Amino acid sequence: MSYANSRIPQSAQQGVHEGLLERVRKHLSEPFRKPFAEYNRAALAASLAGWDGKAPLILDAGCGVGHSTIQIARQHPDHWVIGVDQSEDRLNRRKPYPEALLPRNMVFVRADLVDFWRLLDERGLRLARHYILYPNPWPKIGHLGRRWHAHPVFPWIARLGGVLECRSNWGVYIDEFALALAELTGRPASGVPFVADVPLTPFERKYRDSGQTLYRLEMDLGAGAPTAARR
Ligand SMILES: C[S@@+](CC[C@H](N)C(=O)[O-])C[C@H]1O[C@@H](n2cnc3c(N)ncnc32)[C@H](O)[C@@H]1O
Repeated sequence: MSYANSRIPQSAQQGVHEGLLERVRKHLSEPFRKPFAEYNRAALAASLAGWDGKAPLILDAGCGVGHSTIQIARQHPDHWVIGVDQSEDRLNRRKPYPEALLPRNMVFVRADLVDFWRLLDERGLRLARHYILYPNPWPKIGHLGRRWHAHPVFPWIARLGGVLECRSNWGVYIDEFALALAELTGRPASGVPFVADVPLTPFERKYRDSGQTLYRLEMDLGAGAPTAARR
């Protein structure tokens, strides 16, 4: 596929999945007790090693090659920015700046977010900002449970607080994310189309340059009021 010819996720699912709300309610009422993997505990420790314990925290969840993490760290020099991805290969790809010019208020760690989000919560940490940029859409109807908002870990995303922003090139993903977030928080949520004048991520740039509509949802979760999620 050539660069500016990427496709919007193709799916037989044209609107919000009919089983989504039931799934979210189930996750709110049942404990999620997947044991933590040791490498994710180590990743949390590594992500906080350079933090002064005071700077507000920003998480770039699923940061890929990390270009967004760098931009976010530049925009928020008084914050500590953590870019997390499960792919070592993506994290290690060449950055758009020489090492010496990279912001000092950020760190990249390889971790599984399913553990990392819950480990942040276990440590009692709360976020100032939280980005989930172009998550894998899993557009097949049968893959609903792989989308973050239909995953048992979703309640922790809300628990962590801060200004949460999710972006996607699949409008259905953002509609579903909004519905699930509204169910968790009891507050209205909706996504909007937007124009990425200055793309934050390589995926965003590619989708924009392919002429696709991009969608974003933002909600201020404040101090991360506890959801009904049981651990
Ligand atoms: C479609 S890419 C988007 C990357 C980046 N945010 C961007 O917009 O360029 C989704 C990213 O999420 C990461 N990811 C998916 N599941 C993950 C998980 N459970 N834990 C950590 N990262 C994950 C993938 O490795 C991939 O880099």
